[in-house]
Amino acid sequence: TQHFIVIGNPIAHSKSPEIHALFAEQAAIDIRYQRQYCPDDAASFTAVVEAFFNGGGIGANVTVPFKQIAYDCCVARGGLSEHAKVAGAVNTLLLNTALLESGTPIADALYGDNTDGQGLVNHITSLGWPLKGARVALIGAGGAARGVILPLIQAGIGALTIANRTLSKATNLVDELSTASETIDKHSIETCATSELTGQFDIIINATSIGLSGDTLPLDNDLNCHYAYDMMYGRTLPFLQHFAARDTQTSEGYGMLIGQAALSFERWTGHTVDVTQATNTLSGR
Ligand code: ATR
Repeated sequence: TQHFIVIGNPIAHSKSPEIHALFAEQAAIDIRYQRQYCPDDAASFTAVVEAFFNGGGIGANVTVPFKQIAYDCCVARGGLSEHAKVAGAVNTLLLNTALLESGTPIADALYGDNTDGQGLVNHITSLGWPLKGARVALIGAGGAARGVILPLIQAGIGALTIANRTLSKATNLVDELSTASETIDKHSIETCATSELTGQFDIIINATSIGLSGDTLPLDNDLNCHYAYDMMYGRTLPFLQHFAARDTQTSEGYGMLIGQAALSFERWTGHTVDVTQATNTLSGR
């Protein structure tokens, strides 16, 4: 049996065990995937992670509020993937086997990846929404937005506008990302306040935490797009309601959740996941 965990606080609501159990069923392998509560501090997180990998664990997912702490943990130890580096956050932990083979202790071989952004790109692609050359607006400039920018650019989008309630956070984010990655050219990314975002886009993505607060975004009446994606899921989403009466296809972020999980699973086990089949099975339950 291969052991996996998802570490978060709170964690009881996590759907990851159910999702990974289905992937394991598809791959016909024997796994145990558990929710792992952790007190909200860096020392406790490190202790939990070390105990897990020292005990023979294969991989861990990291969720709120530990993604940045996991990043710090890996910087100082086994390293980071390009996506984790640019996102400034880790959602997938594994051991750096090259380091282990050269005699590095387990606790110093922790390697961090981030599959959130590629999970979004894969879901959008599976919906049949064209990304190549697309004019994309991304709303939000927090951790969730940051994690998807490099994968969107790598997917070949044509133009990117980042809108945020606090404009300075969007411009700072673009400055930071262009320093962190050669693929991100700050002169090719526009920024604006969310209330100023207007006109026609191909795809608009909501990466704010707005769905949780019950607030609404100040979206302009003349803001239109062919496709609107909300990275949140599971309830009535005010962002998508803006597009309800328009000629817009919409999606919530449940497929992104499955998409990022599938990439973690593939990274850990080497087995490919049939994401469409998994999504159909899980949404039918
Ligand atoms: P996350 O990790 O989920 O991205 P975060 O880093 O706290 O969380 O970022 C939250 C994002 O949602 C930010 O872009 C935030 O806008 P500000 O930078 O202006 O704070 C946005 N957000 C949260 N509540 C919002 C609200 N009521 N109206 C508009 N934007 C909101």
